[in-house]
Amino acid sequence: MKKLAFTLSIAATVSLMAVEAPADKNAVAREGLGYIKQLGKELKGNLKKYLKQDPTGLQAAYFCSKSAQDLTKKVNAKFPEGVVVRRTALKLRNPENKVDATDIKVMKEMDAAIKAGSFQKKPVVVETDGKTRVYVPLLTQKACLKCHGPVEKIDPKVAELIKKKYPQDQATGFKEGDLRGVIVAEIPAKKD
Ligand code: HEC
Repeated sequence: MKKLAFTLSIAATVSLMAVEAPADKNAVAREGLGYIKQLGKELKGNLKKYLKQDPTGLQAAYFCSKSAQDLTKKVNAKFPEGVVVRRTALKLRNPENKVDATDIKVMKEMDAAIKAGSFQKKPVVVETDGKTRVYVPLLTQKACLKCHGPVEKIDPKVAELIKKKYPQDQATGFKEGDLRGVIVAEIPAKKD
């Protein structure tokens, strides 16, 4: 029994090491954070502006549904070749914000840490397919609940808009502090 516990603790350490940035990866992590901030700033700035103009969330929901994808493309067009910044989640609203196995693994670890009370809000760096990925967690804040909270608390007009545009929406029922999703930057290995 003792031996099993020891093996498990090694396994846990190894899996954590895989997602933590070794010293020489710090520069790439910083680069990724820079890209992530650019997308985050654009989306959040607009979201805040529209939520202020119309506290029901309808204008903001209209903005997100109409412009989030275009804005993401516009911001990506400014990055160096091969660099991609995108948003994704375990429970998706827009299926275009595709999730892959690495995304799922990282988000499940974040989710488990939140539930265990051991979560630290910091980027996670992963090497995969010759690329470095930098993940920044997006936690559900009070303002997010207008469109991602329990369905019965969402303004009926906002709910209607969301249902119409995203018939397969899974991104409701969140509460403050839940992991809503991530922003991830993918940076190709530099050619020397
Ligand atoms: C006014 C409504 C509204 C508010 C408020 C809102 N969102 Fe969203 N959110 C949306 C819509 C609409 C989409 C789908 C956008 C698209 O088509 O890509 C979305 C998509 C997302 C996605 C992309 C993954 C997916 O499910 O498609 C993430 C991550 C996300 N929201 C996080 C947040 C966070 C975190 C907050 C609070 C800071 C927030 N949202 C507040 C409406 C909203």
